[in-house]
Amino acid sequence: MNLGHYKPISDKVCELLSDLKEGGFIIDAGCGEGYYTNNIARQTRAQAYGFDLSKEAIISASKVAKREGLANSRFFVGGIYNLPVCDSGADAIVNIFAPCAEDEFSRILKASGRLIIVAAGENHLYGLKRAIYDEVHRNAERADMPKNMKLERAHKLSYTIFLQSAEEIQSLFSMTPYSYRTSEKDMKKLYSLTSLETEVEVDIFVYRKEMTL
Ligand SMILES: C[S@@+](CC[C@H](N)C(=O)[O-])C[C@H]1O[C@@H](n2cnc3c(N)ncnc32)[C@H](O)[C@@H]1O
Repeated sequence: MNLGHYKPISDKVCELLSDLKEGGFIIDAGCGEGYYTNNIARQTRAQAYGFDLSKEAIISASKVAKREGLANSRFFVGGIYNLPVCDSGADAIVNIFAPCAEDEFSRILKASGRLIIVAAGENHLYGLKRAIYDEVHRNAERADMPKNMKLERAHKLSYTIFLQSAEEIQSLFSMTPYSYRTSEKDMKKLYSLTSLETEVEVDIFVYRKEMTL
């Protein structure tokens, strides 16, 4: 179920890739169901390749691409720490709410290539967490951010979304890491919700692979 709650994030990512014309090669590392990969394919005309460990997610992503005839998006089941991409082959990598494999990303990026990371900000989905858990924490800064690439730009996106049915709330929840680690008692609270207001807050970082002399 995609109700466009993350469209502003997708639009910003596409804007940051908009200079890549036909022929550009973009990897979506940890693409999940390909929401961003397919949007990149629609909006940039570059080749967008999504990789994810989840076979179900890749099947679902491929179905959307096939249904819409998106010839420039392709999906692969595979780990992002060992990508079947040649050295210096990619113009850009997007890495959205997924682990960052810096060494592998650095290997496959062209010297001028960029890595765009979207990470949950400290208040991301705070309202959702508050509605479910007794004790709620703000998100901590990620520990796996690149150490050897150059941070070129950082953007913060923050807005409020209004979910108006149990189905919408559960759909959003299922896309979060909390869906793997929530107790039965807290899941009951989730299932009882029929409307919810929550923050979306993400940090978008653009890194450049360091040029080697
Ligand atoms: C929170 S989801 C985000 C998916 C997608 N980027 C999005 O925002 O819709 C994280 C994804 O990373 C994938 N993932 C985690 N570790 C991975 C790895 N080592 N290789 C490939 N995919 C991985 C998971 O299977 C999951 O689909």
